[in-house]
Amino acid sequence: MSKKEKKAFQLVKGMKDILPEDQRYWEHVRRIGRELGSQYNYGRIDTPILEFTKLFDRSVGAYTDIVEKEMYSFRDRGDEDITLRPENTAGVARAYIEKGMVNLPQPVKLYYFGPFFRYDKPQSGRQRQFWQIGFEAIGSDAAVLDAQVINIGMKFFRRLGLAVVVQINSLGCVDCRPNYQEVLSDYLKGKKNQLCEDCKRRVTKNPLRAIDCKEEECQKLMADAPQQVDYLCEACRDHFIATLEYLDELEVVYNLNPKIVRGLDYYTRTAFEYTISDQESGRQSALGGGGRYDGLVEELGGRPTAAVGMAIGIERTIKELRAQDIKVPEKQEYDIFLAQLGKEARKKCLSLQDKLLEAEVNVAENFSRDGLKTQLELANKLNVKYTLILGQKEIVDGTILIRDMEGGIQEVVDFNKAIPEVKKRLKLRDGEGS
Ligand code: HAM
Repeated sequence: MSKKEKKAFQLVKGMKDILPEDQRYWEHVRRIGRELGSQYNYGRIDTPILEFTKLFDRSVGAYTDIVEKEMYSFRDRGDEDITLRPENTAGVARAYIEKGMVNLPQPVKLYYFGPFFRYDKPQSGRQRQFWQIGFEAIGSDAAVLDAQVINIGMKFFRRLGLAVVVQINSLGCVDCRPNYQEVLSDYLKGKKNQLCEDCKRRVTKNPLRAIDCKEEECQKLMADAPQQVDYLCEACRDHFIATLEYLDELEVVYNLNPKIVRGLDYYTRTAFEYTISDQESGRQSALGGGGRYDGLVEELGGRPTAAVGMAIGIERTIKELRAQDIKVPEKQEYDIFLAQLGKEARKKCLSLQDKLLEAEVNVAENFSRDGLKTQLELANKLNVKYTLILGQKEIVDGTILIRDMEGGIQEVVDFNKAIPEVKKRLKLRDGEGS
């Protein structure tokens, strides 16, 4: 075997392991998401990771970066064109239609947490598998829902301790957007030779996308481009104003930002992103985003159904928590350590551990180690309050030692009373602290 073949396996590019030491961040973020889901009455939905490729062509849009460049698509063994979901609004809308949720009281409110896949250029804050938590309210065009959905995201970040601002825009509807697209397209045509190659194509196919182009030259041109909000029809203008009024009522801090056009085609009216200024680059980074998608359910074969939603990137959120050194609850703490000396003691400790756990005592151990010194070192590292020590002598006497890790004092207690004795001491300790 050549040297190259022998090399240990590595992660696929753009993928990340979530290790035990990372889990407390994930659990914290998940817990706040779950809490908000239940407080605002959003039911949890889990849709499959695989969907038919057509679903994303029809929803996210054939001329978007996601569909053109970033999807993990393949033909399965049954000759079906399948894609690893790059986002979840399409999947949730598909489930809403397929499961007849139109017959439930509207709007139907759903939230999700799961992995998504985009063949993006891996860099800081950008992965090829990433996780989102998302909220979708399907079946109402009321502006109050736009504000509520935006506010849920704001609460999510506030509870985590992150100062996030909402960048908000209105993209109009099928009636007024074509008019704006034409005006924008005309503006861009006049500057075509100053545009990047991507934007040259976008001029006719998808001019809106040129607005948030990252190329410096294009950005300069966009500063003077006509803005969607000046071309909204009356209904869209009223809807936008109402949304902003509700946000004022909720004291949500927002910025009106004409550059928020989003990278997905299904949006109508409200479009927004949650941004924070990135500690490393100083640039604004989007931790999440969303908007209205009043045409999507119909586009996918359902009845005309208005909807609004948003999704938050978990890795980007956790990156911010870490960068700002924001404390998250520690992983489970242990109260006691169970140390054993010798084969017999190990046997007895194995079942004692079980009983302690059943009595809801958080107990740590390392049964694969023999020496008392090593085990006490580990107990110290875990910061336990007491260590139970069982050796040959204690077995003969039918006792066990309880060592107070603070003062090092050891007491002998009856082996059969070990659990109530430990619980009594832990209770006294807790009482002292409060
Ligand atoms: P999105 O803006 O494409 O929206 O993604 C939402 C968030 O997912 C982003 O703000 C970002 O935090 C995270 N994200 C996206 N791509 C990556 C990546 N390659 N690596 C790491 N994080 C990433 C949507 O997906 C819409 N479905 C949101 C929505 C829900 N609109 C209505 N309802």
